[in-house]
Amino acid sequence: MQCTYYGHACFSVVVGGKKLLFDPFITENPLAVGIALDDVARGTDYILISHGHFDHIADAEAIAKASGATIICAWEIYEWLSKKGLTKFRPMNTGGQHMFDFGTVRCTVAQHSSGLPDGSYGGNPMGFLITSSEGNFYYSGDTALTLDMQLIPRWAKLNFAVLPIGDNFTMGYDDAAAAAKMIGCTSVLGVHYDSFDFIKINHAAAAKAFDEAGIRLRLVKPGETIDC
Ligand code: NI
Ligand code: MN
Repeated sequence: MQCTYYGHACFSVVVGGKKLLFDPFITENPLAVGIALDDVARGTDYILISHGHFDHIADAEAIAKASGATIICAWEIYEWLSKKGLTKFRPMNTGGQHMFDFGTVRCTVAQHSSGLPDGSYGGNPMGFLITSSEGNFYYSGDTALTLDMQLIPRWAKLNFAVLPIGDNFTMGYDDAAAAAKMIGCTSVLGVHYDSFDFIKINHAAAAKAFDEAGIRLRLVKPGETIDC
């Protein structure tokens, strides 16, 4: 699988020949400097939205319209986005799974909140567990470290995980390293850090926390693509 990071919590993964874009946030993303919305949209087959906060949904409408991608999100976010003229959705909710043409998506518990930008209720915040013939990965979404993560190994052996490490609004790197142990994953792409003053982190301290846990932390430059 190949993963491209766009800064903050926006990234794409190519799996099963499909491009999955997570938490589209480009135009006002302070880390997505020089990254064009059209380039991110191009070839996108699915857009997965973890929750309704601005920094996870801001470019969903534009990218869905440009790409014709199907949006996978909570029921309430589906209702909200469908009023903007979008028609291709798979609404889901926590605990549910569905088999797509690239693999299966299971919506997992995230301990966070999920108001939409205009104050509308966004339903449950979620993470996503993707299982496929090519491999498995877990994106926790914005979340605290939570014991619910202990369930992940029951469902899948992970090739990699995408976890927030920026603290303040989500778990920080110490808790993210503990989360990686809990989910049984030795390779983590760190997200949700450095984009705003509230979540600036010490990279050396983050690397040390993961080293001590025996887990590989990858901090990728926005725009960079890695094998994972
Ligand atoms: Ni959030
Ligand atoms: Mn966020």
